[in-house]
Amino acid sequence: MAELIWHPYKYFPYELDLAKREVKTLLPKASFSETDRGLRLRGDFDPEMTKRLVYFAGASEGEKYSPTMQSRLERVNGNGPNRQSTRYSAHGLHEYKGKFNPQIVRAILNILNIPVGSRIIDPFCGSGTSLIECGHLGIDAIGTDINPLAVFIANAKLAAVNIPAGELRRSLSAVIKRQRTVKTPKKGRDLAREEYLLSWFTPEIYRVIERFRIAIEAMGEPFANPLLAIASNLLRDYSLQDPNDLRIRRRKTPLPEKPFAKAYEEAATLFIEKLEDAQEIVNSHKSRSRALLIDSRHATGKKLGTKGKFDCALTSPPYATALPYIDTQRLSLVWLGLIPPSEIIPLEARLVGSREVRGARSKKELLDKLHSNASNLPAAQAKYCKMLQNAIGEGDGFRRQAVPLLLYRYFSGMAEVFTSLHPLMKDNAPFALIVGGNHTVLGGKRFDIDTPKHLAAIAKSSGWRHAETVPLQTYQRYGYHRGNAVTAESMVIVRKA
Ligand SMILES: C[S@@+](CC[C@H](N)C(=O)[O-])C[C@H]1O[C@@H](n2cnc3c(N)ncnc32)[C@H](O)[C@@H]1O
Repeated sequence: MAELIWHPYKYFPYELDLAKREVKTLLPKASFSETDRGLRLRGDFDPEMTKRLVYFAGASEGEKYSPTMQSRLERVNGNGPNRQSTRYSAHGLHEYKGKFNPQIVRAILNILNIPVGSRIIDPFCGSGTSLIECGHLGIDAIGTDINPLAVFIANAKLAAVNIPAGELRRSLSAVIKRQRTVKTPKKGRDLAREEYLLSWFTPEIYRVIERFRIAIEAMGEPFANPLLAIASNLLRDYSLQDPNDLRIRRRKTPLPEKPFAKAYEEAATLFIEKLEDAQEIVNSHKSRSRALLIDSRHATGKKLGTKGKFDCALTSPPYATALPYIDTQRLSLVWLGLIPPSEIIPLEARLVGSREVRGARSKKELLDKLHSNASNLPAAQAKYCKMLQNAIGEGDGFRRQAVPLLLYRYFSGMAEVFTSLHPLMKDNAPFALIVGGNHTVLGGKRFDIDTPKHLAAIAKSSGWRHAETVPLQTYQRYGYHRGNAVTAESMVIVRKA
């Protein structure tokens, strides 16, 4: 009799639920019952499919034991067997706030029964977690994001998984050598960039990171971007900014004692080790996956350069009052030459979920839009935002006062994304969103904003059918803390109607 075996780490309740759902979907003819180490399977099933399960370590039948791909990926790279690993393969290349947990991507693909050969889109792809997970399964995926750093990281990860680790290692050695002799760049080629960086790095560190940049860029593609991303990931630590603060605040703690060059070599070596481990397990899928710099409110087939339609969309959208993605990553954005310093604030303001409201005029415009429901949101959502607006009390500071307007703008942005994605999907194709609720206090009263429910309603009014909402009680995205007012998350699944 076959038995599916749990991973050795402790599960959240939602993971146990998803585990059973993936078994039901991938092994539809099998029935199962719980044992103290997993699930006993009866009936027919394809043993190959058990390897695709994410919340199981393996399947045992008599003497035979077949580990899942997930357990092999996690074991070689983990934090020890008793903790779920999330930084295996290329996932740990660069921090990105609000990253997907890779297991949840795999779980979505499993419970929605997305076969190899399908085409996936992630309209808020961020650092590309979903693209990498799809790649592990042999599924092509397109990611879109409005943040050039997100697109850069996602494509660097996609490049990295396809470079034989040995070649990347040789490239790293060449960079380490070359940066010692590279000439410090001449002053004044891009004054705005240089002045900006010199206001956030000591002149000594600025010279070092520039030498590294030049040495890495000389390696050319496909090596340069993954190696640049590793350097970019260290920038905050070596800057004059408080590394633990999401916004601009000068550091009070001393700079790291370890020289940048040493920290870089260590980080890159560790990354390449992880990559090598993963490459031994996953056939390097020559995927056509890529991330594109596109505002998903205006995504079209033409912009995406894709023929045909998508089988599935999956994403973790920004929160209603999102993290300051751009501000948090401005040093990397400017250092990598992805935006000039003058673009930092305007770009932040364009993000769905942005908290930026610049000036009294924009505020007035937003207020008018809210009152006239200019975006044509469903009546219930427009009414909800107006109700919050009316709840504002005298004691509420300007940040809180902006919440109803920001929520209205967020819902409007999400409505545009649902509308623009709709024609790109096959009929009945699912769109899974991992969405968190928020709460706010206005006029001394607490309001729990059920964002998953609101987004399902908004999707419905944009041509989607609400299939289900699965609560993920304890799921927390990485990098979010209580201060961000994010409560539990849910998986909202809608289908193209
Ligand atoms: C929660 S993050 C996604 C993180 C991603 N799942 C990962 O694993 O890294 C949300 C993303 O939405 C992006 N975003 C915000 N507004 C956007 C827009 N209008 N079009 C495309 N992407 C947008 C942000 O730049 C951010 O990367």
